[in-house]
Amino acid sequence: MGEGIYPKFIMRKMTSKSLRKAWLDFYKERGHIDIGQVSLIGDGTTGVLFNVAGMQPLMPYLLGKEHPLGKRLCNVQGCVRTNDIDSVGDSSHTTFFEMMGSWSLGDYFKEERTKWSFELLTEVFELPVERLATTVFEGDANVPRDDETAILREKSGFLHDNIYYLPKDCNWWELDRGPCGPDSEMFYITDKEACGKDCTPACDCGHYVEIGNDVFMQYDKIDDDKYILLDKKNVDTGWGLERILAFLNTDGDVYLTDLFKGVIEILERVSNKKYNEDVESTTAMRIIADHIRTSIMLLGDENHLTPSNIGAGYILRRLIRRAVRYAKKLNISTDVFTEIATYFIDNIYGEAYVSLANSKEFVLNELNKEINKFEKTLNSGMKELRKVIDRLSSTKVNVIDGETSFKLYDTYGFPIELTEEIAKENNLSVDTEAFKQKFKEHQDKSRTATVGNFKGGLASTGDMETKYHTATHLLNAALKQVIGADVHQKGSNITEERLRFDFSCDHKLSDEEKLKVEELVNKWIKEDLKVTFEVMKKEEALKSGAECMFIEKYPDEVKVYSIGDVSKELCGGPHVEHTGVLGHFTIKKEEASSAGVRRIKAILN
Ligand code: ALA
Repeated sequence: MGEGIYPKFIMRKMTSKSLRKAWLDFYKERGHIDIGQVSLIGDGTTGVLFNVAGMQPLMPYLLGKEHPLGKRLCNVQGCVRTNDIDSVGDSSHTTFFEMMGSWSLGDYFKEERTKWSFELLTEVFELPVERLATTVFEGDANVPRDDETAILREKSGFLHDNIYYLPKDCNWWELDRGPCGPDSEMFYITDKEACGKDCTPACDCGHYVEIGNDVFMQYDKIDDDKYILLDKKNVDTGWGLERILAFLNTDGDVYLTDLFKGVIEILERVSNKKYNEDVESTTAMRIIADHIRTSIMLLGDENHLTPSNIGAGYILRRLIRRAVRYAKKLNISTDVFTEIATYFIDNIYGEAYVSLANSKEFVLNELNKEINKFEKTLNSGMKELRKVIDRLSSTKVNVIDGETSFKLYDTYGFPIELTEEIAKENNLSVDTEAFKQKFKEHQDKSRTATVGNFKGGLASTGDMETKYHTATHLLNAALKQVIGADVHQKGSNITEERLRFDFSCDHKLSDEEKLKVEELVNKWIKEDLKVTFEVMKKEEALKSGAECMFIEKYPDEVKVYSIGDVSKELCGGPHVEHTGVLGHFTIKKEEASSAGVRRIKAILN
């Protein structure tokens, strides 16, 4: 079939703004309420570092709790997924993306869902039906084949030949635990003629690009292989804004949409290269644009993530450092990163992401700080690595040892993934086990030092400090109840006279909020709650929902302290045995600590 039937460009010419609006309007017309969006940083409850899907904050409601805004909800939620980071550089993968979502919480099910999906695809977005494919769950020992959805997809208008049954690894949506179920994905076929006759959306021919997913959530995953049926059947819908926009306006290249176009132009100007001129520079431009975009979204998030060596902060660090390396590859100065970040904030995202716009100075500052830190050592690190690579190329060894990769990490700030990537480019691999071993040895050494200090501290820990330790846990729990579940500890310091507690929060606490926090803590003190602890494996502790600030800083076995059923935290202690002995709790001061972080000083008497 020729171009006449499969036009290369659709040219619906929606902008990112009009697409967001079209999505929300479509659902509002069908009785849905826009719930807005939440922080990009994972709240620690689902075991993932970032918000990876619009359904994440809705987990309790998908499990049956009543949502205050009703049974039909929608939004456009920023998401961060870095599992596909190696694919970034092609035309459709990004580490940040906007998920256009809609939900039925025990309300409508497959019939409406399939009808509306087809309407959206072909009437609102005007995508040609020949270009659309869909997949449904083929069934397994526990859950039957989803014939119902396949029939409904065809009834709605999908071509019979473009409907595929696929196994659980393709057509089942779940996070580590919680609401889940079979799903049905929708794909845009970029080039049917180039596909082999056996190509399906599951193969890696690259001609089927996923643009949306409708999940029929009917199960609660309570253990690795244990699912229980939910009382209510839900629908969780998540479609990719960037990709749909790309097929509406270009031949499927997200970097040519209005979201990225200006940034690509900046990169073309400074590099003196044309986008799409050669693979290497095009890939570099995409990686730089993508990684800076995700980095500023995380820095400017309401919880203001900053680069570090652990958890989400480490991923942010990797993204920025990787962008720096690709700037070198493209032969441009990283000075342009500020211009790119500013362009994104001022022209593209500032309006929809208020916290990003409000913290522009902080974002640019942090970005530059991290770039400078890495640039100081990048050249010497690269020289070091070059020497190793040259040495290895004259031998039969093609593995970089743990000593080298750890030195690159420790002395030159090369995330191990970066060393691996450079090794791969030179047909080498990295002995990551040996790296881990070195890393562990290093950690053990510094832990011994820390424990030594801590013990020294403990020896002088008096009654008052012990009380403040426990009061700190109560304060943390109270803040979560009053301000919101996404309050997290950012720091703590205790003396005999007072506690000081830093926590993520985007606003100054009102007098009413402070009062409520005090009242709660004092109520729990009056209730004389029992303080107990359990020793458990770190993973178990996290799964149990225990609160924790720096998981990597803890040994494999940890103590989890519980206070009645109001608080559960990983902690070394010491603590009082029951809260009644704490006395009266008063907040003395509430102030800003850094962007997105507030500080409370409080006393007991
Ligand atoms: N939660 C579903 C997904 O992310 C919609 O694919």
